[in-house]
Amino acid sequence: MDQAPPANLTTRLEKARATLSAVGQAHLLDHVEALSTDQADQLLSQIEGIDWPEVGRLIESHVKQKPKFEMPDDIKPAPWYPNIPLGSHQALYMDARQTGEDLIRQGKVAAFTVAGGQGTRLGWDGPKGTFPATPMRGFPLFGCFAEYLIKAQEKYGTVIPWYIMTSPVNDQPTRDFLAEHDYFGLDSANVMIFPQAMMPAVDMANHKVLLADADSLALSPNGHGGSLKALWTSGAIADMKKRGIEQISYTQVDNPIVRMVDPLFIGLHALDKAQMSSKMLPKVEPLEKLGNFCMVGDKMTVIEYSNLPEELAHQRLTNGDLRFRAGSIAIHVIRVDFVESLNTSEHGFSLPWNRAEKKVAFYDPATKQTVKPEAPNAIKMETFVFDALPMCDSSIVYETDRMDEFAPVKNADTPAGEPDAVDSPASSKHIQTERAGAWLQQRGVTVPRNSEGHVDAVIEIKQTTAIESSDLASVELPDAIEPGSQLLL
Ligand code: UD1
Repeated sequence: MDQAPPANLTTRLEKARATLSAVGQAHLLDHVEALSTDQADQLLSQIEGIDWPEVGRLIESHVKQKPKFEMPDDIKPAPWYPNIPLGSHQALYMDARQTGEDLIRQGKVAAFTVAGGQGTRLGWDGPKGTFPATPMRGFPLFGCFAEYLIKAQEKYGTVIPWYIMTSPVNDQPTRDFLAEHDYFGLDSANVMIFPQAMMPAVDMANHKVLLADADSLALSPNGHGGSLKALWTSGAIADMKKRGIEQISYTQVDNPIVRMVDPLFIGLHALDKAQMSSKMLPKVEPLEKLGNFCMVGDKMTVIEYSNLPEELAHQRLTNGDLRFRAGSIAIHVIRVDFVESLNTSEHGFSLPWNRAEKKVAFYDPATKQTVKPEAPNAIKMETFVFDALPMCDSSIVYETDRMDEFAPVKNADTPAGEPDAVDSPASSKHIQTERAGAWLQQRGVTVPRNSEGHVDAVIEIKQTTAIESSDLASVELPDAIEPGSQLLL
């Protein structure tokens, strides 16, 4: 600082130094004298926003060592409601769908998108929700969700408020994008955007928190588990209660065909008086990279694919099905009062932390240079929302259909001519076309198919046109689609 710092800055500096020294991180202020008052203020504000005793504990347990996963000994596969109901389930599903529709109609369901992730695998410069995801219009993910909500609001004659969790890094660009697009036709009074909290990245070799610049820490979002606190601290839960919302329909930002609010799923969850429920997909192979829904005692638990012993992952039932078959696709319904009870509990609540080794660019105050590492150099720490499941008294799992609801955009496309990368823009567009083809066929349209049975055309059905195949009943449809043609409905 060119001159003596203002008195309150000096007091803040002393306090921050003491807090940081207690956890071996005093180096973060070693260069502070060289900063302008504004820069020092910015660095201090970031430091003051972090729970340093927690960071200190995590450095001991998750940075200096890899925490060992303790496999519970009483684990069983979790039961689930099948996609297609049989026998007595048929009446239950009719009842559940009605219950879910009633809750939506009565304005008791909110949509919630977690969009705070950094989306580094996709290599898209900007919030992932701005990524052009659909096969013909190249419509952005946020646009798909907004159109879904417009259609659902029209169908059920209600308002479905939309809560979007960002991170401090992508919050403003997300707000700007939605405002520039006029919220894709939604009323902005029913869209609430709020950022989640951040965690510092720690150098793997010397266990020191990294700087991103002279006046900022290397911070990253604290995982989607952070949503359960951010919903509370942001005032989103208070806003929901004011509106009479009882159920939160939780989905991820990466899936353009996700059902933002699914009456059947919401109804099954509500009829069972569940606090937090989940959708699953049957795994296509034993080691597919999905978390596994398990029961540990009487508690619903997701065991990550990397933690489920291979011997269990390969076990099969007598009919040949995998015994641990239910894979997590990160779609949940969560009761508002469950989130409230977690945050107001006398003892507080915390989710387990997970350690990830990542490449994190950092600022070296000695050379005043930013270093871009070639190999993972840092530990990032995140919590996962599904780790709240064991805190529920009641939780259900419902099986959905892969083609009908799961076309995530996570990984970058492969070069032209090579097979699609899994969960890439290309694979997502193919699934979107397949789903549109299946819906049209159900309405009697002749859909061209190639020798492998795939739709031989590019078809996009806007969510404002249909969010399920029965919505096409009121749409004028062609009798047949020309092979190799394009169709936008
Ligand atoms: C996740 C699930 C995986 C599931 C898959 C389905 C985990 C650990 N894995 O994997 O079990 O099969 O989705 O698509 O959850 N996010 C935040 N804040 C954060 C981190 C993430 O809002 O701090 C959001 C992202 O914006 C995204 C979602 O959470 O919407 C998933 O994030 P990501 O870390 O990419 O999880 P996946 O590896 O895709």
